[in-house]
Amino acid sequence: MTSSALLLAVTGWKPDAWYNRFRALDPKRDLRVWPDTVGDPASIRYACAWKPPAGLLASLPNLEFIFSLGAGVDHLLGDPTLPDLPVVRIVDPDLTMRMTEYVVQHVLNSHRRQHVYDAQQRARIWKAQDQPPANEVTVGIMGLGVLGRDAAEVLRRIGFQVVAWTRNPRDEDGIETFHGAAGLGPFLARTEILVCLLPHTPETDGILNLDLFRQLRRDGPLGGAYVINAGRGRLQVDADILAALEEGSLTRAVLDVFPVEPLPAESPLWNHPGVTVTPHNAAASEPKALAAYVLDQIARIERGLPPENVIDRKLGY
Ligand code: NDP
Ligand code: OXD
Repeated sequence: MTSSALLLAVTGWKPDAWYNRFRALDPKRDLRVWPDTVGDPASIRYACAWKPPAGLLASLPNLEFIFSLGAGVDHLLGDPTLPDLPVVRIVDPDLTMRMTEYVVQHVLNSHRRQHVYDAQQRARIWKAQDQPPANEVTVGIMGLGVLGRDAAEVLRRIGFQVVAWTRNPRDEDGIETFHGAAGLGPFLARTEILVCLLPHTPETDGILNLDLFRQLRRDGPLGGAYVINAGRGRLQVDADILAALEEGSLTRAVLDVFPVEPLPAESPLWNHPGVTVTPHNAAASEPKALAAYVLDQIARIERGLPPENVIDRKLGY
């Protein structure tokens, strides 16, 4: 009989909450945890991983499926030894809802000029700022995948004009879409609040750079351009964000992700008045909700069905 042992291989998070949840939901599963209880590597069929050490998954000779414990998979694909096996990523309403909360929170903070009121409060200034209605403001979303689409729907429902940019052409109700290299300029020219929910791939590396920021719309009702990056840190060039804030092509930047994480203490982003920093938790992977998704996919596999949400290795997402 084929072994069905599952190895939990995470760095940067404690594995305990995942282990306990898997154990509670599937008490009979042979559960192993890297590095302490790997046991016989030949008996492991499934790996559930978040930033596993390079080479670990290649050392499991009978591994058949790799689960990313997040929506992104760049933490796996960066390992040149990653075995050529199906990589299943997280697609779950809990994670999606968390990202939509983050995006809506920060779009509204920009739109309602919360940073100005925060500064005014510290200086005891009672002064109403101009307030354009949401339906005059355009939010541009880079990446209209599972996360981008949900955020777009909520933003539309509360009145914003929403445009989006993707790799392939899309036809979406109520959202003007642009795609590919030719669509990027027209998309940026419409966008006052840019929300980036792209995966990090060789094509998207460093895409949030000075040249791109300079193409955003600055003469719209908000009177400036804003960026919110909750995709991946390596999409952005930190020095270009600072330069864009300095020259005024950006008014504010909200950053959840960084090329180096944790953001180094000496980074000027920490105390720049135009920057909001959050610690890569726009949409945390919550084991309480997500372990069930992984086990559902394993149940599909064990019923002879293919798992859902398998990434395209060639595209990198
Ligand atoms: P999806 O794979 O569902 O969507 C990705 C989107 O990006 C698609 O619309 C795709 O276009 C677009 N895209 C990919 N490559 C390009 C390109 N070269 N040019 C233009 N568009 C491109 O991903 P999700 O929505 O589930 O997640 C997006 C990312 O969010 C993850 O990869 C991860 O990096 C990040 N993330 C961050 C979290 C955080 O806490 N900060 C939490 C969870 C995820 P097309 O539709 O044409 O395929
Ligand atoms: C993810 C993340 O990819 O948390 O899910 O970054």
